[in-house]
Amino acid sequence: MMQFPKIIQGGMGVGVSNWRLANAVSKLGQLGVVSGTALDALFVRRLADGDKDGAMRRGIDAFPFPDMARRIWQEYFVSDGKPVDAPYPLTPMHQRRDPRKLVELCMVSNFVEVFLAREGHKNPVGINFLEKVQMPHLSSIYGAMLAGVGYVLMGAGIPLHIPGVLDAFAMHHPSEYKLSVSGAVPGMDTTMTFDPADYIDGPVPMLQRPKFLAIVSSNTLATTMLRRANGRVDGLIIEGATAGGHNAPPRGKLQLNEKGEPVYGERDQFNIADLRALGVPFWLAGGYGDPKKVREALDEGAAGVQVGTAFAFAEESGLREDLKESLLAKAVSGTGEVFTDPLASPTGFPFKVALIEGSYSDPKVTAARTRICDLGYLREPYSTPEGNIGYRCAAEPVENYLAKGGKIEETVGRKCLCNALMANIGHQQHRKDGSVEPPLVTIGDDLNTVAQFVNPHRATYTVADVVDSLLSLTNDAVQHDQLMVATA
Ligand SMILES: Cc1cc2nc3c(=O)[nH]c(=O)nc-3n(C[C@H](O)[C@H](O)[C@H](O)COP(=O)(O)O)c2cc1C
Repeated sequence: MMQFPKIIQGGMGVGVSNWRLANAVSKLGQLGVVSGTALDALFVRRLADGDKDGAMRRGIDAFPFPDMARRIWQEYFVSDGKPVDAPYPLTPMHQRRDPRKLVELCMVSNFVEVFLAREGHKNPVGINFLEKVQMPHLSSIYGAMLAGVGYVLMGAGIPLHIPGVLDAFAMHHPSEYKLSVSGAVPGMDTTMTFDPADYIDGPVPMLQRPKFLAIVSSNTLATTMLRRANGRVDGLIIEGATAGGHNAPPRGKLQLNEKGEPVYGERDQFNIADLRALGVPFWLAGGYGDPKKVREALDEGAAGVQVGTAFAFAEESGLREDLKESLLAKAVSGTGEVFTDPLASPTGFPFKVALIEGSYSDPKVTAARTRICDLGYLREPYSTPEGNIGYRCAAEPVENYLAKGGKIEETVGRKCLCNALMANIGHQQHRKDGSVEPPLVTIGDDLNTVAQFVNPHRATYTVADVVDSLLSLTNDAVQHDQLMVATA
């Protein structure tokens, strides 16, 4: 008999589902999930801001290899924090083979996030990665495992080879991951490797193999994951196209509606009877942040639901307070608008964007921003004419992208999600010319439904308000100590 949560608080990068949010969810017996995306850069920014509440320090102190932790602290911690309008320091952008310093930063930052999410309770915590952001995978996963992460959740790609990585790392064995390289020629070495033995510097901690949940958008992908993964897939999250964040593109030829959004049709619906027949626990995601939808999912045989949008506005989330306030006010008045942008993300996947005046969703702000690429998480590895691996991003300065063999049409409408997502959580970069990186908030189509959780006395709500409400039509209504359901 295995225990699974009914509610998974979905991973929300960058730093929206931070350790504080995940801790609050897991403490209530549901599954809190930290975002693992760009945690290394986020960690550097938290240290540059002076770690005011001392949380990073607590995490660093718990890291099992103290010399490594000390090196990172000494390099990036700014006592009292940097001046507000000074730029944040930058770390090297990821490549197939990262310098040791960056590998260590990934290990430590992922460790700290999971460690803090686990503090003060004994329930499992998960970490979410995007398959497309491949280069930091191995060191990040190992770092999260050193902190005892209970679940690894991954979508935005087909993570067939992650289960094998988890199996290897649970025994501190080396592991490999193939980097997707556009135009890779036969024989090109695209392998990334990580050998824990190169980094272990102290007593070897016992590790558990986290459960692996694949996030997929169709029955076909669900079946593929189960048939072809190189290790155990413990469950599936089936995410529909109303979900916040990136969405899978519609099947078939792309058609846009009158607003310019991708049109999803019959072929994009999943078949729940077929999912049940696969015989693994599954969770439904995309518009399930409502007690009636939770009941419906359970009645259809799901183990539960994965919810993002409702948790993104909880007091405990990392979303910037001014953005939370303005979007919650819109939700309460029923005027929040979400646009599924087919172009914004350099990944080429549709990306949901909340329309907010003065943010990067505002055409005037887009026009005023000078393109720059200095975080590089969404860079696409490609084969250069000499047969080496180069890196380019469709949102970088157009002339640079073209010089790397990119096509001009790929650059149209692209936005720098790396910088925007840092701005969403209050770590916006300040430029030498005085400009400040604008935020671009992603949220699900159900933005306005979060009004149901708002506590009228505070005009905000907490994780507990969401969890209580979502479970209110289940057997688990308000018994926080017994919230784990038994599934087969
Ligand atoms: C602000 C935000 C950021 C998100 N970022 C990620 C992410 O980094 N990785 C991911 O797998 N899903 C991401 N998602 C999707 C959620 O994990 C979840 O599956 C989705 O929000 C569920 O649908 P809902 O928004 O209707 O609740 C994000 C969603 C939101 C709202």
